[in-house]
Amino acid sequence: MGFDQYHEPPEELSSQTRTFARMCANLTEEAEAIGWYEQRISVEADDAARAIMEDSLGEEYKHFSMELEYLFRAKPLWRETARGILFQSGDIVVNGEASEAAAGESGGASGPPAGAPDPSLGIGSLKENTQ
Ligand SMILES: [Fe+2]
Repeated sequence: MGFDQYHEPPEELSSQTRTFARMCANLTEEAEAIGWYEQRISVEADDAARAIMEDSLGEEYKHFSMELEYLFRAKPLWRETARGILFQSGDIVVNGEASEAAAGESGGASGPPAGAPDPSLGIGSLKENTQ
C-alpha cells in the first residue's frame, strides 16, 4: 500500500489533515476514472459493454461530486471560491478571478462572491434553505 498522498511525514500530520489528504487523493482518482471511462466509451463498439461503462461513469460522477462536497465542507474558503465559479454562466476565467478576489470578504456568508454573476436567479439559495 502506498502513501503517496502525503508530502510531509504522516506522523507529523493531524488525523484531520490525513483524512483531507486521502479525500484529495480520492478526488484525483475519481477524475482519472472519469477520463478513462470517457476514452473507453469513445472506442467501444459493443453496445452492451458501452452501456455498462456508461453506467460506471455515472458512478464516478457521483463519487467525484460527493468527495468534492466533503472537501468543500472541510474548507469554507474553497467552497466560497467555488460558489462563484461552479454552475455559473459567463466566462469561466472571469468568474474565477472575481470569485478568488472576493473569497473571504464575506466572512463565510453563503451566496456568490461580489462581482460574480447571480446564480440561476437565486434558485440555488432556495434549495439550500430546504435542506
Ligand atoms: Fe469511483
